[in-house]
Amino acid sequence: MNCLSSKRILLGITGGIAAYKAAELVRRLRERGAEVRVVMTEAAQAFITPLTLQALSGQRVHTDLLDADAEAAMGHIELARWADAVLVAPATADFLARLAQGRADDLLATLCLATRVPLAVAPAMNQAMWTNPATRDNLALLARRGVQVWGPAEGAQACGETGPGRLLEPEVLLERLDGLFAGGALAGKRVLITAGPTREAIDPVRFLSNRSSGKMGYALAAAAVEAGAEVILVSGPVALDCPPGVTLLRAEDALTMYALVQERAPLADIFIATAAVADYRPRQVATAKIKKDAATTLTLELERNPDILAAVAALPGAPFCVGFAAETDDLAAHARKKRLAKGLDLVAANWVGAPGQGFDSDDNALELFWEGGQESLPEAPKTRLARELIGIIARLYQEKYPQGTPQDLHAQDSA
Ligand code: PMT
Repeated sequence: MNCLSSKRILLGITGGIAAYKAAELVRRLRERGAEVRVVMTEAAQAFITPLTLQALSGQRVHTDLLDADAEAAMGHIELARWADAVLVAPATADFLARLAQGRADDLLATLCLATRVPLAVAPAMNQAMWTNPATRDNLALLARRGVQVWGPAEGAQACGETGPGRLLEPEVLLERLDGLFAGGALAGKRVLITAGPTREAIDPVRFLSNRSSGKMGYALAAAAVEAGAEVILVSGPVALDCPPGVTLLRAEDALTMYALVQERAPLADIFIATAAVADYRPRQVATAKIKKDAATTLTLELERNPDILAAVAALPGAPFCVGFAAETDDLAAHARKKRLAKGLDLVAANWVGAPGQGFDSDDNALELFWEGGQESLPEAPKTRLARELIGIIARLYQEKYPQGTPQDLHAQDSA
């Protein structure tokens, strides 16, 4: 799908090492037929030259707010009006802070303030700066104001550390921009999904886990992107490729998955819990491999893992929450009970006792239950079921939040 043809994209570049990726993004946008104008902050020009961006965009690069010549040609207000969408990539912690404050002290910040078109930021920074409460607060504020926050990805950083803070790859940013114009059922919505199993360590070489392959959750992530959503997928260990356009965060065990989800959930419009999270983990994790000895039995003491889904559903301003229920008997009764017990908007129940459905199969069948309604999605490939389920979620979300988002509603209630 290419919805970028003839679209006017204003790309803001701020001063971080990831600024070099902006060059590739400009090239790819033009390949897709978009018109691109680039605005750089002063710090960005220390990392990549305006000349490079000018050559790639085929347009003069804008750098100064108080440049009389530039203002005469296309001033900050004209630039803000010209764009169909504004993307700031990379967006540094400093730029996010200035944006949150509504400052107008350079060209990029000023036109972000002046624009009425969709505004997205793709953060890139050191992982400690990303997790700092000041940055978290700024992002939460921006998200409440409707700014889309794309990424960051997780991994090795230029500073030598590892963690969240890498700029999303140009190809992913391209898909996000495309999604803005796709006008799908979830266009502009932020969807958080868990998928796959968790592994609960017993010792350095052994773990407790289950048979979830991640196929159902990954299919839902792909279907949500197709529907125009911005998707974060928190995945347990699986052997699947991340669907294009999805931000993937990896979690080995339930506690890591819980922490990642808790961090992202306040910004999500919809949360879909497909993961088969281990209910229990060993109370003690042996630091060395447990040796066999003469004993014929080994006793492990287990303790309860936190319920990730129930915790999200209990958040103030919680996203629209969708749970899965994996059942081997009395499916409808158990699923309804889980929906009420965890405070869910929708539960999708599947049989997991028989081969060919549920865990680690390409097909599945779902029974959906929500307040005042239910629907059966008969056996089909998980990819098809995922599209149908995303369509139903979009409809129910729209009915529940005809205007605004869960966060807006919460803010209005508590005002
Ligand atoms: O991954 P596949 O091989 O494609 O298989 C798909 C699936 C069978 C795993 C999937 O369709 C499914 O049913 N996922 C939920 C499995 C499960 O753990 O169900 P549950 O009934 O135990 O949990 C109910 C809900 O609470 C689930 O949404 C689960 O993600 C969530 N949960 C459970 C425990 C916990 N500690 N935290 C949670 O968030």
